[in-house]
Amino acid sequence: MTFRLSGGAPFPLGATPDRRGTNFAIASVNAERVELCLFDAAGATEIARLRLQERSGDVWHGHVAGIEAGQRYGYRVYGPFDPGRGHRFNPHKLLIDPYAKAIDRRFRLASSLYSHIPGDPRGDLSFSTADSAADMPKAIVKAPGEFRAPSGPRTAWPDTIIYELHARGFSKRNEAVPEALRGTLMGLAHPASLEHLVGLGVTTLAPGDPVFGMPWFPRAASAYAEYVTAPSRQFTHKPPGLTFEEAGGLPLAGLTAWQILVDTANVQPGQRVLITAAAGGVGHLAAQVAKGRGATVIGTATAAKHGKLRSYGVDEPIDYTTDDVAEAAGRVDVVVDLVGGSRDLARTLGPGGLFVNVPSAAPDDLAGEVEARGARFTRFLVEPDHEGLFALSQLVEDGDLRVDVSATFPLEDAAEAHVQGETGRTTGKIVLTV
Ligand SMILES: NC(=O)c1ccc[n+]([C@@H]2O[C@H](COP(=O)([O-])OP(=O)(O)OC[C@H]3O[C@@H](n4cnc5c(N)ncnc54)[C@H](OP(=O)(O)O)[C@@H]3O)[C@@H](O)[C@H]2O)c1
Repeated sequence: MTFRLSGGAPFPLGATPDRRGTNFAIASVNAERVELCLFDAAGATEIARLRLQERSGDVWHGHVAGIEAGQRYGYRVYGPFDPGRGHRFNPHKLLIDPYAKAIDRRFRLASSLYSHIPGDPRGDLSFSTADSAADMPKAIVKAPGEFRAPSGPRTAWPDTIIYELHARGFSKRNEAVPEALRGTLMGLAHPASLEHLVGLGVTTLAPGDPVFGMPWFPRAASAYAEYVTAPSRQFTHKPPGLTFEEAGGLPLAGLTAWQILVDTANVQPGQRVLITAAAGGVGHLAAQVAKGRGATVIGTATAAKHGKLRSYGVDEPIDYTTDDVAEAAGRVDVVVDLVGGSRDLARTLGPGGLFVNVPSAAPDDLAGEVEARGARFTRFLVEPDHEGLFALSQLVEDGDLRVDVSATFPLEDAAEAHVQGETGRTTGKIVLTV
């Protein structure tokens, strides 16, 4: 198929259809060559690659005759690969137009998307020649008027008022707030106060929004209760696909898994990750997060739970009651130890490996043993994390993370829940309901 490409216009940026075709414009200061890649309707096959010939200032542009709304497209951009100077141009990677008005699928991490070679000893200084087009979402040309900005407050800064208030004075004389709560932080969180704030035009919260989260643990969150006040950044909206029970089971264990595997270990596709107690509260979520990052997951549990482990994404289940875990696991890149106490696991690591010790108890000389092998040892304490919660809720929405709630107890039976939890045999999470 041939396409007629002419110079087009540098503005507006993005893809703009007109009566004759579509204008494409993209800005890059350091690019040396920009190619527009057109795809078939399924976004699967590249049907044309057109080099944008025109450059006005830093904007590369071209007009393609006959291209209409609905066309799938992306870019390949050539330029220096010089990470020391901040340049990582790699034309093997298809890029989404930063001004795209729609994309044809959800973004999913895949090893081809990395600009470096996952697992390469040079790390992100290596250069991947794997073509990413099959895994990358394609931008879609939208007709003028067809595109509506997503809803949400998105209040411009010049129109934004930050409303600071004195917590005590705010509800002290509000008769709609129960007397015992007037003048307290609980009074501020009472629906009558929220109603007042929303009535004033405060846009970043609304009464009745379903949210989930983890206040600072174990400080503020050192008890169970029906109500809690905490900074809004310690919560995020509950995804509709998550029940309240599942949402109750996700934050502490899920953030522990996320902060270990993503923020601390930065697990890469192809790495081997050993998770002990992989059927438990943290373990079953950690297995799914590691699997979603493209790792090979090795998990320990008694044999009766191996079916569950596989459902969480564990590739190699090990029965710690009958097998030598370190021997069965072989060499791994990351150990997430949720049991503690086993010095033996250090044997699984080599230079560059990472041992994350999660329970507070660990043998004194474990760190030394790990470090003697050229690996790193770290302890870990979970913390409130809006970004992490948001990432977890996205995984849930994408169907890539499931919270296994094995039992629920009413709040008044919290002691019974503890007795069950302390058996150390829990599968997934135990949740209290109110
Ligand atoms: N530092 C932090 O920020 C942080 C955050 C969260 C949790 N934690 C800690 O992390 C640990 C794990 O928490 P969790 O909530 O996931 O625990 P959990 O749900 O109580 O773990 C239960 C699981 O542990 C398994 N298990 C028990 N003994 C085992 C052993 N010797 N080897 C392998 N698996 C074993 C059980 O499987 P089987 O029945 O098959 O044995 C069970 O499925 C706890 O010590 C907790 O306090 C720390």
